[in-house]
Amino acid sequence: MNRLKKIAMVAILGLLNVGAYAAGPHDGVTCLGCHSAHFAVDHKIFAVKNTNQKNPLTKKSFDKLVAKNCLGCHQLAEYGGAGVKPIHMHTTHPIGMVPNPKIASVPKNMLKDGKLDCVSCHEAHPSNKNFMYLRVDTGATGENIQKLCAACHDAKVDYDSVGIKKIQDIKIFSAMDQEKGSGFFMRDEVRIENQTPEYVKPLGKLPENDLAPNYTAQPDWVYAPEINPQAELNKEIEAREKQSAKPKETPKVK
Ligand code: HEC
Ligand code: HEC
Ligand code: HEC
Ligand code: HEC
Repeated sequence: MNRLKKIAMVAILGLLNVGAYAAGPHDGVTCLGCHSAHFAVDHKIFAVKNTNQKNPLTKKSFDKLVAKNCLGCHQLAEYGGAGVKPIHMHTTHPIGMVPNPKIASVPKNMLKDGKLDCVSCHEAHPSNKNFMYLRVDTGATGENIQKLCAACHDAKVDYDSVGIKKIQDIKIFSAMDQEKGSGFFMRDEVRIENQTPEYVKPLGKLPENDLAPNYTAQPDWVYAPEINPQAELNKEIEAREKQSAKPKETPKVK
């Protein structure tokens, strides 16, 4: 199956899941939507990666941040994503900076490589039942969103309304400690990442003397940022629409 068809299917499965079960849409994405067991394109065997976008705040790529993986899906196709619930970085809460303590107090363990990232606020694994995959339980529809903001901007938050006495009391969801399992952890103790070796090589750029992979040409489902995946999909959709617009042949009556 080509990569784009796979992502389109993943998106549809994600949508179906919302209605059918009390599960988040990433249940439909499945493990293999985000991780590829054999043909990964990024660290932690990630299946998608957006190499197209720069962080409007730092003017640098999202390298080393999980953002580049999330944006492989959650960005418009013309900016290197798959057009699934796209978010726009120019209008998004800033990420990728070492936090200024006058603006936010973020414990080190909620940063990725010392910087704020998508995963500082979200834990996107299907085991997270929180609204919008947020790390804090803000109620079924996010009605208690202050509780999320409190984790880093408590000076702005009404403690009574959030039901906490001190910032350390806020419970943060994580699935990143396999020994402890998934669940809520104290803010200062929660683990949002594990350091692992970055050995995944971008396909097509293997050094000459490396053992050849089990194919010689790049398969069509491999992430190829120079191709606009949405364009291919649009062509297919157009062709299908043309087909169904053709008047049906009426059977001849003898
Ligand atoms: C929506 C995307 C998404 C889905 C779906 C997903 N993961 Fe992940 N996974 C991530 C992210 C993000 C990370 C952390 C990457 C990082 O910190 O660099 C991760 C990391 C991991 C890790 C490494 C953990 C570590 O300690 O470093 C494992 C193992 C893993 N996922 C397994 C799974 C399994 C099993 C499933 C299916 C139940 C799954 N993932 C589904 C996004 C996803
Ligand atoms: C392989 C594609 C893929 C990747 C990668 C991915 N997502 Fe998603 N995500 C989806 C799909 C599909 C949906 C459902 C879209 C819809 O409802 O239209 C979704 C929905 C969401 C939602 C909305 C949840 C809701 O309940 O409505 C959030 C929040 C989200 N993703 C966050 C993330 C974050 C953070 C990352 C990176 C760690 C990430 N996603 C990576 C495919 C992906
Ligand atoms: C400061 C915390 C924070 C950070 C950082 C953050 N998000 Fe979110 N995100 C939220 C909150 C809160 C919501 C729910 C409110 C909303 O939909 O506007 C949300 C909603 C979303 C949604 C669903 C949007 C929709 O249309 O319903 C997606 C997708 C998403 N985030 C992806 C990401 C990705 C990808 C990143 C990193 C590039 C990221 N988020 C970084 C807090 C954050
Ligand atoms: C995981 C920690 C974390 C969470 C949770 C968080 N923020 Fe932030 N926020 C930060 C960091 C870090 C900065 C940037 C500080 C800097 O510029 O160095 C920031 C910056 C901001 C800014 C200034 C933006 C700008 O353009 O200058 C606003 C406003 C803000 N956050 C609001 C919120 C709101 C509202 C919420 C809850 C929905 C929230 N934040 C949740 C860490 C967080």
